[in-house]
Amino acid sequence: MKRKISAAYHTAYKPQFFVIVAALVVLLVGAWWPAGGSVELGDRTQHTSTPGQNRPPLPLRPPLPPVDCAQEACLALTFDDGPSSQVTPQILDILAKHHVQATFFIVGSHVAGNEELLRRMYRDGHEIGNHSWSHPDFTTITAAQLDMQVAKAQQAIVRAGVPAPTLFRPPYGAVNAVVRAHVPMTLAMWNVDPEDWRQKTGKEVVERVEAGIKPGRVVDMHDVHQPTADGLDQLLTDLTNANYKLVTFSQLFNLAPGQRGLFYGR
Ligand code: NI
Repeated sequence: MKRKISAAYHTAYKPQFFVIVAALVVLLVGAWWPAGGSVELGDRTQHTSTPGQNRPPLPLRPPLPPVDCAQEACLALTFDDGPSSQVTPQILDILAKHHVQATFFIVGSHVAGNEELLRRMYRDGHEIGNHSWSHPDFTTITAAQLDMQVAKAQQAIVRAGVPAPTLFRPPYGAVNAVVRAHVPMTLAMWNVDPEDWRQKTGKEVVERVEAGIKPGRVVDMHDVHQPTADGLDQLLTDLTNANYKLVTFSQLFNLAPGQRGLFYGR
């Protein structure tokens, strides 16, 4: 026993021993690496798209009460291209102050780092829709790319812990037969385009929106544009004073979840 230990002890100091140990380490790591490495790689791939862990799904909230938009002066405010860590929180604060719900069309690649904003949207009663992964014109990409754009954004949104959207807003409103056939969701269009992204001040945004609205319309704005947030408090005050009932996109059309078709306004 003693001799053996002693022999091992001595062997440890011979250069050949280090070579053997090094070879063993290489072999062991090599055997472990493909499995461990690929898991790690898979994780990393997902992390580039949506860093952080999956968030726990939020408890499902009760559906918003139906609104009779044939009787009420309904109007659906929609916000695209976010979430923006700068602008979206301001918009959410102002909507909460006025106790109104809107619809947010999310760009999937903007979710990373903004998961809490999505969760707040959901908790605050807003509707969340899909606005593609990276905002390409869907009439210029292949059907496979189009499928990926929709699916990847859905995945990012769901990973934030909110229910999978049933609404899809095509970037630029670009739709053709392939888009209609491939996107398995309600195509959520609009019929008031104030071009808020062009406006320099909140006042201009308010004027442009108010110039276009009528009961039953869908207003397209962007929660990545500061003047839109700047004008929103005044806009909501004006709309309330004018007896508009602000509703989500699905409320406006009384949509069944996933109902197919293109919806522009009532
Ligand atoms: Ni957009």
